[in-house]
Amino acid sequence: MKQKIIDLFQHVHGRAPAVVTRSPGRIEFIGNHTDYNGGTVLGASIDRDVWVAVAPRTDGQRVFYSDFSGEKTTLASDVTARQEGETSWINYPLGVLMALPVFNLKAPQGFDYVATSDLPTGAGLSSSAAIELASGLAFCALTDQHPDRETLVKVGKHAENHFVGVPCGILDQGVSGFGEKDHLVFIDCRGPHFDTVPLSEAANFWIFNTHTKHALVDGLYAARHRECMEAAKTLGVSLLVEATPEQVEAAKPMLSSDAFKRAKHVVEEIARVGQAVAVLKQGDLVAVGRLLTASHRSSQHLFGNSTPELDFLVDRLSTAPNVYGARLTGGGFGGAVMALTGPAFGIVQAEAVAAAYAEKFGARPDILRMRTGDGAALA
Ligand code: GLA
Repeated sequence: MKQKIIDLFQHVHGRAPAVVTRSPGRIEFIGNHTDYNGGTVLGASIDRDVWVAVAPRTDGQRVFYSDFSGEKTTLASDVTARQEGETSWINYPLGVLMALPVFNLKAPQGFDYVATSDLPTGAGLSSSAAIELASGLAFCALTDQHPDRETLVKVGKHAENHFVGVPCGILDQGVSGFGEKDHLVFIDCRGPHFDTVPLSEAANFWIFNTHTKHALVDGLYAARHRECMEAAKTLGVSLLVEATPEQVEAAKPMLSSDAFKRAKHVVEEIARVGQAVAVLKQGDLVAVGRLLTASHRSSQHLFGNSTPELDFLVDRLSTAPNVYGARLTGGGFGGAVMALTGPAFGIVQAEAVAAAYAEKFGARPDILRMRTGDGAALA
């Protein structure tokens, strides 16, 4: 991939890049909608990345190209307006450029830029966090600045929250930044504090991307965010992480039926993340798998962010031989299911699940086999 982006840069800009970076996609392992509630979450960085290459320009122009759009776009360095339509992918690097000064980092003025990727977009693997971190690293290296990982992660999240406009937590950027091959990233989102947990070599990841997306997905994500904050307020805490499952039960009469279910999901899911860390340390993938499927059931019945398509995949996968557990991964309301399997689960078994899905829903999900990979870095 490195040679590919160098060649592409040469082709598009007629010269060699000065800096090349990469940052991986992520799988949300367990901890659904816990991050913005101040909770804990486990994620895996995968071996598919967004790559960014840059070189300085002296005329103050910023010339963007990506093979997602296939077009060159030139913006003056004082352009701060959000891009619409074909060029809207530029909002990610542009958001990063706007976020850098917030963290006392300098944004480069003029540059040539190329992004490319072997990470499927729209598969719930967070290509957005990956392009934010790869861009942040590239812009900093271009101006000879070397922020620590935590700052880089916060720059990416700031871009997403304030420029792209999604009120996400720190999961996606945190895992893309702190990922490590053969490990999961553990985030205590209150600090935030980042750690890694070793993952047994027997653990295999499969992603089934349904390509379904609820038309209101952004609005629904924001609505869940709001419901959680309202529940926290009724419970008298600033974030749901501060409430225990018992406190939520006790507050049931004061909460609307939906607010109660959202809060119950969040506090129980945070407890599941803690249990997952403990059983992962014992290498007990069977117990880990049970927690993953329990997490899905909670999304399905309490948080209300699953869909019949995702439920169907989880039903099939969680009862298939050599599958430890399965759950929706990411925001929900469509998207992808991940399965944690043993090595004996192979493409034949995965295809059988996809065929059953196709028979019911008339479309085939994409099957992606994933390995863990390292976090954002200069290449
Ligand atoms: C999306 C967001 C994350 C997180 C998950 C749900 O992926 O970007 O911050 O909230 O949804 O756990």
